Amino acid sequence: MCGIVGYNGNKKAVDILLDGLSKLEYRGYDSAGVAIRDKEIEVFKSKGKLTNLKDKLKDKVLNGTCGIGHTRWATHGEPNETNAHPHVSNDGNVTLVHNGIIENYQELIQKLERHDYKLYSETDTEVLTNLIDYYYKKYKMGPIDAINRTMVRVRGSYAIAVMFRDYPDEIWVARKDSPMIIGQDKDGTYLASDVPAILKYTKNVYYIDNMEAACLKKDKVTFYDLNGDEVTKELKEIKWDVSAAEKEGYEHFMIKEINEQPEVVKKTINSLVNDNKIDLSKTGITEDEIKKIKEIYIVACGSAYHVGVCASYIFEDLARIPTRVDIASEFRYRKPILNKNTLVIIISQSGETADSLAALREAKNMGVKTLAIVNVVGSSIAREADYILYTLAGPEIAVATTKAFSTQLVASYALAIEFAKVKKKLNNKSYQELITEIKELPNKIDSILKNLTTEIQKISSKFSGIKDAFYIGRGLDYAISLEGSLKLKEVSYIHSEAYASGELKHGTISLIEDNTLVIGIATQEEIFEKTISNLVEVKSRGAYVIVITNEGKDVSKVANDTIYVPNTNKYFFPSLSVVPLQLIGYYITVAKGLDVDKPRNLAKSVTVE
Ligand code: F6R
Repeated sequence: MCGIVGYNGNKKAVDILLDGLSKLEYRGYDSAGVAIRDKEIEVFKSKGKLTNLKDKLKDKVLNGTCGIGHTRWATHGEPNETNAHPHVSNDGNVTLVHNGIIENYQELIQKLERHDYKLYSETDTEVLTNLIDYYYKKYKMGPIDAINRTMVRVRGSYAIAVMFRDYPDEIWVARKDSPMIIGQDKDGTYLASDVPAILKYTKNVYYIDNMEAACLKKDKVTFYDLNGDEVTKELKEIKWDVSAAEKEGYEHFMIKEINEQPEVVKKTINSLVNDNKIDLSKTGITEDEIKKIKEIYIVACGSAYHVGVCASYIFEDLARIPTRVDIASEFRYRKPILNKNTLVIIISQSGETADSLAALREAKNMGVKTLAIVNVVGSSIAREADYILYTLAGPEIAVATTKAFSTQLVASYALAIEFAKVKKKLNNKSYQELITEIKELPNKIDSILKNLTTEIQKISSKFSGIKDAFYIGRGLDYAISLEGSLKLKEVSYIHSEAYASGELKHGTISLIEDNTLVIGIATQEEIFEKTISNLVEVKSRGAYVIVITNEGKDVSKVANDTIYVPNTNKYFFPSLSVVPLQLIGYYITVAKGLDVDKPRNLAKSVTVE
């Protein structure tokens, strides 16, 4: 994880670096640091969030127009100032920031020690810094040679930005399996782990590939391959809006992003529905290829995995295609059985999640077609998948996903509907009904936000003191309860579990006591009564029950509080019930006074195993 930034241009670097880091803090916030070159390179670092570094720098005059910065999610070594980046080689020749993990760093330490290098930190990054210095001095062939020799010597993942003392007008970068984009405008060149960090300055970016390096001068970026040969690249324009990466009056990014859902869900649907038909042409998958699919394997992590669980119910029920869903970190080591008619669907907001990327590569190695549902254009998963379906959530800053999740859900509905049609499991009338209904979802999400937010805030404020919560449902209601439970626990630190409600009595029900919070989700007509019976079981053991159901349902015999969502097609209820679940997680956390956008121990883009 971690976030890196860099700037080389005509403006003061410190402001651009700190601003960029503030947009990347979601990637890690254990410590932060910058290196600014005026005549010499000066390094400043602080433990903890970026505000500590800002405080440290506020009275300093830093006129340098070239610099690099870092916000850390600790992997090697505790989060303290010594381990914070930038790291500097023994005699100050090389200064470097790094996002990723160097797996063979122990072995490299021994190599460096044999050459009298002394390390001051516990990080793998300091090892990398000195290794570049070692090759630079040994072969005396300049930065690109030293960086390329280092790239072939280290194992692991990295996006690095490097300043050499001897090359005052240049920043050097390289990457393998960790994200990085490079921007350019009339005032200079920029680098960052993610688009929001530079969006304010430029929308023109280059995508640097794996095992490539680049040199950023004030007015020019030159790319190199591993042989040191120049590589030509085109500037690409990013479509994201600058305001999307700002809070715009909201107290937190999470609530802003929850409120953006009607708009981004609409955009995503509009990109997939053309003239009242699902249109997958932009993804690259054809009708012939869909016809061949005999089995689907959905692979993802965290919330994206929960989208997969929802989608698996729909692919099976609607398109009658056997569908498995797996957690990417399990899939990649499971030796999955895939055949040539399996389609592997990878779901990822960032497109950089290490396990999801590895799962994609595993599937491709097995000769199986892959389709990725991804939010970040040009990300590794997007570039490597055979077919790519972009969600249009825009930049998601809050660590807990909300709007990207909702766009992934509708993207998976569109796939399921089209697959069902191609496989002739859906008549034209039902197909049209589904299209009409999917297009209504943005309005229905909007009406939940408009009509229910205050009530949910009120309900949630009662639960800031609880220690445990349970989320239960059946079928798609169970699938979405997984997400509700994660939303609560990851931001509020309240222990919570999601259960298929029929499974409770096989053990977990013994945890229910007076006032244990149980959130029941009951939107699925065919199994509604069964879920209510399970809620009666917990209620009679003392639980405080909140029911999320659809308008017209009577749940008064079991609910202490009821949250009604509008009616929709049975497959689409997760898109509606997730909104109150997100709001519950958000408002309980706010009531506890916690930093909802940056929960402890987490980072948004998980680029380590
Ligand atoms: C939870 C959350 C995570 C991500 C997971 C996968 O709110 O955001 O569980 O869903 O880390 O990330 P992506 O989608 O970027 O692969």
